[in-house]
Amino acid sequence: MASQSALNIGQDMAGLESCRTDFAILQQKMNGKRLSFLDSAASAQKPMAVIKAMDDVMLHGYANIHRGLYRFSQDLTLRYEGVREQVARYIGAASEKEIVFTGNATDSINLVAQSYGRAHLKAGDEVILSEMEHHANIVPWQLLREQIGIKIKVIPITDDGALDMQVYASLLTEKTRFVSIVHMSNALGTINPVKDIITKAKAHNPDIKVLVDGSQSAVHSHINVQDLGCDFFVFTGHKLYCAPGLGVLYGRYDVLNSMPPYRGGGDMIESVSFDRSTYKDPPFRFEAGTPPIVSVIGLGAAIDYVNAIGLDAIKRHEYDLMQKMTAGLKSMGDIDIYADIADKGGIVSFNIHGVHASDVGTILDQCGVAVRTGHHCCMPLMSKLGIDGCVRASFALYNNVDDIDQCIEGLYKAKEMLL
Ligand SMILES: Cc1ncc(COP(=O)(O)O)c(C=O)c1O
Repeated sequence: MASQSALNIGQDMAGLESCRTDFAILQQKMNGKRLSFLDSAASAQKPMAVIKAMDDVMLHGYANIHRGLYRFSQDLTLRYEGVREQVARYIGAASEKEIVFTGNATDSINLVAQSYGRAHLKAGDEVILSEMEHHANIVPWQLLREQIGIKIKVIPITDDGALDMQVYASLLTEKTRFVSIVHMSNALGTINPVKDIITKAKAHNPDIKVLVDGSQSAVHSHINVQDLGCDFFVFTGHKLYCAPGLGVLYGRYDVLNSMPPYRGGGDMIESVSFDRSTYKDPPFRFEAGTPPIVSVIGLGAAIDYVNAIGLDAIKRHEYDLMQKMTAGLKSMGDIDIYADIADKGGIVSFNIHGVHASDVGTILDQCGVAVRTGHHCCMPLMSKLGIDGCVRASFALYNNVDDIDQCIEGLYKAKEMLL
């Protein structure tokens, strides 16, 4: 359990080893082999502390929230709102009123594009994205482009997999209204200098709004949205050891308050008549209908779990694993590693020369190793790299050196079988 693990923790890899037992699923075999789960960038496994917190609600105190006058509803409402405060602290927001619960990170970005975008942007306004964005931070802006005629500009990546900051500076014009950028790339692991990106945008024009896609970064490092100076920050619960179906949108309060509702329905209104409805203040204005109550309670437990271990220890641990994996791949030879740079987190993407990524993934599966293969929802990035996909190993707090050894062993086998 989290508190126990935290007591054991020595801020080093040995300390985090004990966390593996908090994840029952990792004790299972896959294809008869020890499970080496290296796909946490897609979705992380859940510790018992999170499962128990959600179970406990459903077994002993479930009700809808914000509605009932009876005890279960009132108690759960308080717990739900307590998690909102916890999330605000987790990412350094000024107030819990700046935290909107959504369906996932994708939903959060769609909310911003549709609500902020349709209210504040117009034809010809420029939105800057980057070449390493997840589709979740591309397609919502393309939908907006079709609807109102904005222009999308793209920061290219350099050959080593970083953002080309010189080109970024040149993309800022008098028409730039919005920058929407990923903090840590899910496909490369690159950690982008988002504070610098935000500072440059605001220095160019203080009215430019910046969204940071923290789907990967919020899991591995301390976030302080006030220090970053972003207007929006999004992440998704299932990558932070919580259940799926829950996303977070942070919005600076004055910005959120300038935005119309995204979806209409129960719980987001002050009054409704057939002539006219009026809406609550943020964040409730953006939370129509019954929210993912149980997942929100799970997110509270997940944040407790991660905080008890310590984000600094988690980051160091995953970085160490990433470096060991990189060294193992290099010693194999015949490998292309994408973004072999210092500024990256616990993700390694690669291809074995002459072998298709999906064939590698299939053989690794037989070896008990779960990796992701394909385009990683980053098709424009794959085009830039001149590939149709790659193999990705991603690390979480529960991974260890045995996971890497098992993966490297599987890769030798794949090479032997496929070349
Ligand atoms: C960087 C990044 N952004 C956005 C998303 C979308 O997250 P979700 O599918 O939970 O909305 C992901 C998921 O892989 C991601 O890695």
